[in-house]
Amino acid sequence: MDYSKLQKAAATPEASSMIETFRSIGYSLETAIADIIDNSISAHAKNIYINRIWRGGKSVITIKDDGEGMNSDEIIQAMRPGAQNPLSDRSETDLGRFGLGLKTASFSQCRKLSVLSKRKDESHAFWSWDLDYVAESDKWELLQWIPEEFIGELDNLQSGTLVVWSDLDRVLLPQTAETDDSAKRKFSNALDKVKNHIAMIFHRFIEDKAIKIFWGEHDITAWNPFCPDENKTQARETENINGGAKMKGYVLPHKNNFSSEQAYKKAEGMNGYPAMQGFYVYRGKRLLLAGDWLGLFRKEEHYKLVRIQIDLPNRLDTEWQIDIKKSKAYPPAVCREQLESYAKSVRAIGSEVYRHRGKILKQRAGQNFQPLWLEKKKDSKWSFVVNREHLMIQDLKTLAKENPEQAIEKLLKFLEEAIPTKTIYINEAQGEETQKTPFSDVDINLIKEVLVLMYNNQIAQGKTSAQAKALLKIQEPFNNYEDLIEQL
Ligand SMILES: Nc1ncnc2c1ncn2[C@@H]1O[C@H](COP(=O)(O)OP(=O)(O)O)[C@@H](O)[C@H]1O
Ligand SMILES: [Mg+2]
Repeated sequence: MDYSKLQKAAATPEASSMIETFRSIGYSLETAIADIIDNSISAHAKNIYINRIWRGGKSVITIKDDGEGMNSDEIIQAMRPGAQNPLSDRSETDLGRFGLGLKTASFSQCRKLSVLSKRKDESHAFWSWDLDYVAESDKWELLQWIPEEFIGELDNLQSGTLVVWSDLDRVLLPQTAETDDSAKRKFSNALDKVKNHIAMIFHRFIEDKAIKIFWGEHDITAWNPFCPDENKTQARETENINGGAKMKGYVLPHKNNFSSEQAYKKAEGMNGYPAMQGFYVYRGKRLLLAGDWLGLFRKEEHYKLVRIQIDLPNRLDTEWQIDIKKSKAYPPAVCREQLESYAKSVRAIGSEVYRHRGKILKQRAGQNFQPLWLEKKKDSKWSFVVNREHLMIQDLKTLAKENPEQAIEKLLKFLEEAIPTKTIYINEAQGEETQKTPFSDVDINLIKEVLVLMYNNQIAQGKTSAQAKALLKIQEPFNNYEDLIEQL
């Protein structure tokens, strides 16, 4: 098309409304801070310092790094929305993508974003976005301003960057008083979550000693979802995924087999075992997505020990549809089937561990284990039968000769206690095979015999025939056999 011949009209986005749109991309406090940390890592920082200053509605969060830093022009460029083309090539270690993170992550939490930065052997520079000023002026204009107290923050570093969030209107109401203890507690809880999130998202960097992330005075310890240090963790074979990604499945030990109760509690993670099952998608060392079955399965209680690591090279961003917040991914259609079948095999092991409470039942002392209930499969229907081979059943038969009442009571008690509820629940939830309809294959003569026995007993006790029949009709499962009862 020859554009030169056409008439044009400017349709520049209106600054005041467009910048408000940036606020609503759906970051949480923890995903927003993680996005700022990404920038520090991309700038080759070794140390990152996160600070929270409680001042009620005037509280401040700062993120400082000792990375390469920026000069004044570079800060301005960094502050420009969309300065980087998402389609341009990025180095393998670059955690950025859309050229929006710094702005969208910050505006999702605060009204003032200030950046102070310094390149090696240069003096520092600073610029701020102030949403109140943008709203007022309707101009895409930065202010050369930074809260006074931070101006010397980089003086002790050769190079580095400080990001300051003030007017945290998404976390705190502006009028919150510094003395408001309940607001302070909420703020502190929200920040605890951030700390845990960071420990998880950047665990590989921390473990590799590539970076230290300081939370106030202390550096954050890594949280590894796969518990590689636990003896009883089961790691599966690594499998290559179509297109260059890799996956490796882990089944965490059953609670009884963790090295300690604390270790079990710690491994649970931010949202508890059931919620933390699923795939963990990494781009390079950076965890993007934690505990998500990527739409392939539902989360179920009995798979809560299953976690599968997926490693993506960052050139696969577009195929896996990594979103701006780096908190969602959609595997391309060509590898879904492979993910599903691999995950199924790991999930099968996970449900075994869950079901047997970590006990390896089948090979105890080389002999066959004798459960009280046996699972039966017939025509892809499942049911449970009492294991007649079980020693106790044999012995209770002997006891029944001397003391039938006690024998029956003991039998019932043990059967009640040993009902395989977990396996039944799992079978039900998997929904691949259905339960056999109760009594569908019980010999009708057996039912008749028992009915006759019960009927005769009632008559012997002085009931009329009608009374006896009425009573039988309300006894499970005989309520289903009214015509048999009528024939008595
Ligand atoms: N802490 C930092 N240190 C050095 N440069 C930074 C830092 N934060 C941001 N930048 C620069 O600002 C640019 C824009 O950042 P951002 O908006 O997060 O987009 P992206 O990370 O996708 O490039 C980065 O590409 C980088 O050049
Ligand atoms: Mg970024």
